[in-house]
Amino acid sequence: MTDLYAVFGDPINHSKSPRIHALFAEQTRQDLHYRAQRVPAEDFNQALRAFLAEGGKGLNCTVPLKELAWQTVSQAPHRLSERARLAKAVNTLALQPDGSLLGDNTDGMGLVNDLLRNHRVNLTGKRILILGAGGASRGVILPLLDCKPDSIVIANRTVSKAEALVADFAGHGKLQASGFDSLSGQQFDVLLNATSASLSDQLPPLPAKLLADNACCYDLAYGNQPTAFVRWGRENAAAQSLDGLGMLVEQAAEAFALWRGVRPDTQAVIALLDGERQLSAAQ
Ligand code: ATR
Repeated sequence: MTDLYAVFGDPINHSKSPRIHALFAEQTRQDLHYRAQRVPAEDFNQALRAFLAEGGKGLNCTVPLKELAWQTVSQAPHRLSERARLAKAVNTLALQPDGSLLGDNTDGMGLVNDLLRNHRVNLTGKRILILGAGGASRGVILPLLDCKPDSIVIANRTVSKAEALVADFAGHGKLQASGFDSLSGQQFDVLLNATSASLSDQLPPLPAKLLADNACCYDLAYGNQPTAFVRWGRENAAAQSLDGLGMLVEQAAEAFALWRGVRPDTQAVIALLDGERQLSAAQ
């Protein structure tokens, strides 16, 4: 029987997730259907109930539902993974044999896998700078700390939000809060843009000479054209300046593995989507 999966969000019409999961299913010969469904925040709990009643086995949640999904699954009989609990956001729900839901957050693992496996960016012992202290930043911190970097600095326009984030992860690794101004004179090996500035083609105010030799810049956002941060990385001679297309595919692969017990090959799917966007950017 064909198993049902979906992504909920609002807006949802440009979601690449149905395509990615269809490619994974074909590749691994899994019998499943994955659809995109527009669900505004106020309809989330009702849409979730209806989806489960329809036989839904697993769900992805995207903007603006990740925090709501986290709240729902925080209540018994449901369960949260440790990384989702600390992220305070859930992007993956998996139906369990007893009818309860497991809430997970695969975003951070998606980022780490893209860096480590696809771009050979080593994180162990490295100085990491995360720009932004919102949901996107919170979602990736624990998997990054698990890679044992030298340190992680979280820089944010509103410094108090970076400080609150650091406090939430106290005891999990070496984390420090900062404003953008106080980054002057420091250097980093890996710079991650987790601000929403990319969405409006803007850049956080970054001081000069932030990049160490052989540094990697990575924007968690992606688009058909290079984001402002990817362009900034290139202009500042980063060894690599990447966007989040690979992270998108890798977080989907983590969800797929959780649901189906088999891990798809991601590199073929990333190459396909990258080729397609280059074609559409050229048009
Ligand atoms: P998300 O879930 O995408 O992380 P969010 O929780 O609203 O969205 O967080 C957005 C982040 O981008 C915040 O860190 C925000 O900084 P503030 O906390 O100071 O608002 C940051 N941000 C958004 N636009 C920015 C800009 N133009 N320059 C710098 N930081 C920006």
